[in-house]
Amino acid sequence: MMNEIISSTNITVHPTEESRIHEVDFNNLVFGKKFSDHMFEMKFSEGVWQEPVIKPFGTFEVTPASNVLHYGQAVFEGMKAFYVDENTVNIYRPETHHERFNHSCRRMCIPETSYETFIDALETLIRLDHQWVPKKNGTALYIRPFIFASDNLLAARSSDKFTYQIITSPVGAYYAEGFNPVSLTTPEKYVRAVVGGTGNVKTAGNYAASFLPAQKAKEKGFTQVLWLDAKEQKYIEEVGTMNIHFLIGDTLITPGLNGSILPGVTRRSVIALAKEWGYNVEERKISIDEVFEAYEDGSLKEVFGSGTAAVVSPVGLIEHNGKTIELDREKPGEFAQKCFDEITDIQYGRKEDQFGWVHPVSI
Ligand SMILES: Cc1ncc(COP(=O)(O)O)c(C=O)c1O
Repeated sequence: MMNEIISSTNITVHPTEESRIHEVDFNNLVFGKKFSDHMFEMKFSEGVWQEPVIKPFGTFEVTPASNVLHYGQAVFEGMKAFYVDENTVNIYRPETHHERFNHSCRRMCIPETSYETFIDALETLIRLDHQWVPKKNGTALYIRPFIFASDNLLAARSSDKFTYQIITSPVGAYYAEGFNPVSLTTPEKYVRAVVGGTGNVKTAGNYAASFLPAQKAKEKGFTQVLWLDAKEQKYIEEVGTMNIHFLIGDTLITPGLNGSILPGVTRRSVIALAKEWGYNVEERKISIDEVFEAYEDGSLKEVFGSGTAAVVSPVGLIEHNGKTIELDREKPGEFAQKCFDEITDIQYGRKEDQFGWVHPVSI
């Protein structure tokens, strides 16, 4: 096997001897099932990040005493890159994702990583595996950077050893057959996060804890949970893996980043666009009662989620304490559709990127 250094931060690359790309049906991509030929890896020990490598995607050994398996010391990111043409792939907002990645690291006692290595790893992976970037409109290369504690020690304290990896996966169009409006229900007795906890960072345990309430919402016939604040069960926080927005009159209201809501990258893009387009924009507490009142007086125009997976997800139904809001949408409202079009046009390089959101990679 040939080892070469082809990156600006000296990532050693061990190329695969045999690509697995023939195993992929690019017309039927299922989220998170197929992984590109190569992965990035960098280990932390002796107080420093060691030499970065890119090697064939594959399994690896983990000690049964690894902190992450018992105490969940782990952080991750979820982001995408888009096929523009035969020369270019656009990574969407890598700096913002990396800022959040480091923010998650700080909260979880995990050593931070440099943006230089992060972007070099992404560029090198994308160049090596450019054939894995799906080409059809709506498809993308999903990118999953993550770091986990990998000490061989069962003590309930922060690890001294960490493993940082980046894997990528081709994903299909989220909306292959038109938009699917989601239905939401507020949980009866569960909360997602408390201020001072870990809700505002992307750490493994947040997701594990949300599976049971999500399962219960599904059993009741709803797509996802609409989380309310933990203290008063009154203010709206977010949804599953999306932030939420309300267009009431001509004002876009988004729950403010109070310390328990994940600061979504798409949320930031939606807010920036709304400001650019001259809407009134408010980031503040919004109670479930306020949304019901706006629905009853007819001023609630649109409700939609925002996130990397779908960009925007129209909300068709909200249930809370036996009362419902029915927006009955087959498609997003005008504003959400405009956000979807603008963001995807920028992602695929169809429109000028006046915000500097995309990072083009020459392939
Ligand atoms: C809990 C949670 N909220 C919101 C989001 C949306 O964030 P982003 O737009 O960065 O994907 C995500 C997805 O990452 C999430 O997991």
